[in-house]
Amino acid sequence: MKIQDLGEIHGDMLLFGGVYSNLHALDAFLDVANMNNIAPQNIICSGDVVAYCADARACCDKMRSLKSPVLAGNCEIQLAANALDCGCGYDEGSECSLLSRGWYAHATDQVSTENKSWMGGLPDRILFIHNTKKYVVIHGGALDVSRFIWPVTSDDVIIREIELLAEQVGPIDHVIAGHSGIPMQRIVKGVQWTNSGAIGMPSHNGKPQTHYALLGKNGIEIKELEYNFTAASIAMEQVGLVQGYHETLKTGYWPSEDTLPSEMHL
Ligand SMILES: [Fe+2]
Repeated sequence: MKIQDLGEIHGDMLLFGGVYSNLHALDAFLDVANMNNIAPQNIICSGDVVAYCADARACCDKMRSLKSPVLAGNCEIQLAANALDCGCGYDEGSECSLLSRGWYAHATDQVSTENKSWMGGLPDRILFIHNTKKYVVIHGGALDVSRFIWPVTSDDVIIREIELLAEQVGPIDHVIAGHSGIPMQRIVKGVQWTNSGAIGMPSHNGKPQTHYALLGKNGIEIKELEYNFTAASIAMEQVGLVQGYHETLKTGYWPSEDTLPSEMHL
């Protein structure tokens, strides 16, 4: 397991993930960072730079040139290994599994050898201290990078995840996670679990705005990202990615509810 320890970080931070090859969202997010004078070393990505949308290569190139800390998501791990699918953990034959064949092939074609090499070197955990509290950034779960921790996941499951993380990296106060694409915040046995949501895809709530997290003096706040989702959707159409996620960008609803726990179906 590759662990990147950033030591103590001062000042406001942006925590985000799930760029999902959405260059329009990434540009808008970086505009937020600029407007708030947040430097690249105070911005941490929890993985999945590449996935559903049109601009896999440009998003990788931009993240590499930014030099912010980036965690390996399942998409980076699979692409670096020249795997045949995204390894997202959805059941074979599910709607999402079928849809992934379209965008994963597009992403595989787009990303450069240099991008794959960069992905292969990304860490599995990022540690930092902020305002005397210790944070660990993970992608999905403690043992499985593709584990989904949802807002409806039980406290017992989250407690076990936190215990495993403590065995891996020592005691922690906060967990920053990604992968599910749904923002959540919960405190379990004194440890705060935060999923920032994704900037590259809305959270199946009927709104096209996406999500990131701001860590400031008053703790972590989930924020909505306003960006040009119409242009991002058109960019997908122009490269033939018309299997459903291009509509999700505009409607705010995922093409497949079978990927969500039944309690979260609308
Ligand atoms: Fe993921």
